[in-house]
Amino acid sequence: MPIIAIDGPAAAGKGTLSKRIAAEYGLHHLDTGLTYRATAKALLDAGLPLDDEAVAAEMALKVDLAGLDRSVLAVHEIGEAASKIAVMTPVRKALVEAQRRFAAKQPGTVLDGRDIGTVVCPGADVKLYVIASPEVRAKRRYDEIIASGKDADYAQVLADVRLRDERDMGRADSPLKPADDAHLIDTSNLSIEEAFQAAKTMIDKVLK
Ligand code: DC
Repeated sequence: MPIIAIDGPAAAGKGTLSKRIAAEYGLHHLDTGLTYRATAKALLDAGLPLDDEAVAAEMALKVDLAGLDRSVLAVHEIGEAASKIAVMTPVRKALVEAQRRFAAKQPGTVLDGRDIGTVVCPGADVKLYVIASPEVRAKRRYDEIIASGKDADYAQVLADVRLRDERDMGRADSPLKPADDAHLIDTSNLSIEEAFQAAKTMIDKVLK
């Protein structure tokens, strides 16, 4: 019953990679960023403050992992709000518990996020740490926004990527960092297919 942990900063390509890996090996997949986003959206929708730990933790306990939809939760404001409440220990505790229950599902799971290899599933069979330069990640985000028919300013997107990195790596509780036994994949100069093949080689070595 393998558990595959995939961590890395925003827009490094973890999401696409995780979905392909889950499909390839027939495993359940959880994008744990969506659990933070769903909590943030519930607070925003209810008009509740984003700086009250007790209120945010209560919302986190109510998040239904089966009802997570990236197309609804992808909005920039929700991502910003998610990264703010993700610094709160009681929120993390509630969501990590739910994520661990998911990780135990048969016949195995792929979880992607920021702290899967370090905190959520430190015993994961395979740990990947996916990175790309801030400029490459900002360009990907920028292209996505333009492709969706909206307007974007590359400099602003790059500033947002750097700010998100600072918040994710700088927080005291479960900061973004590679586990000691994580395999690094730098996707800056890789296509989706090349990144997938690199990951597959590492996973096959462990699972076979
Ligand atoms: O990957 P994402 O952009 O959907 O994540 C949104 C925010 O949630 C991100 O800024 C940090 C937080 N997050 C986290 O703290 N731990 C995780 N395992 C996943 C996401």
